[in-house]
Amino acid sequence: MQLDEITKILVSEDEVTKTVKRLGAEITAHYGQLERELMVIGLLKGSFIFMADLVRQIRIPLVVDFLTLSSYGDGTVSSGDVKVVMDLDSSIEGRDVLLVEDIVDTGRTFCKVIRMMRNRNPRTLSTCTFLNKPAARMVDTQIDFCGVDIPDEFAVGYGLDYAQNYRHLPYVGVLKPA
Ligand code: IMP
Ligand code: MG
Repeated sequence: MQLDEITKILVSEDEVTKTVKRLGAEITAHYGQLERELMVIGLLKGSFIFMADLVRQIRIPLVVDFLTLSSYGDGTVSSGDVKVVMDLDSSIEGRDVLLVEDIVDTGRTFCKVIRMMRNRNPRTLSTCTFLNKPAARMVDTQIDFCGVDIPDEFAVGYGLDYAQNYRHLPYVGVLKPA
């Protein structure tokens, strides 16, 4: 189902599946046995599809929670302003936390979320992103489990949107200029 608006595929469906399996295995191996369940925290809305696939590839006990931040608006350029729109349901104090993001672009958003979460005193905090744009990085960001590096182009699909559209595409592609 390649749409006319998509000029190029960055991560095919097949590569999505392989990447998520690899990340699940890495995360499973990294944590081994924990005293309490791993808390997997997804940043909404972008990470919802990746989260759903990822947690099914992690073979240790876990719970999920979600955090919604204020976003870009409908544009394609990050403002770097981050506000919590919907907070977690539960406390992460003393817990092992894995933060899950769809894409790290400039790094501003993730960096701020990591700082915010660290202030809540988890026992450990690690991070996972499905996509990474190294060429766009403005802020040094902790990424422990990284899916696929992509070029500095605006990507949609597999959870990523342009003005809330295209999140449901099962692959990641680049939009044709309007
Ligand atoms: P950052 O703060 O610049 O790293 O931007 C992070 C957020 O911007 C991500 O959580 C995405 O929601 C969004 N974003 C960054 N790059 C893209 C892209 O190529 N396509 C869609 N959303 C993006
Ligand atoms: Mg977004």
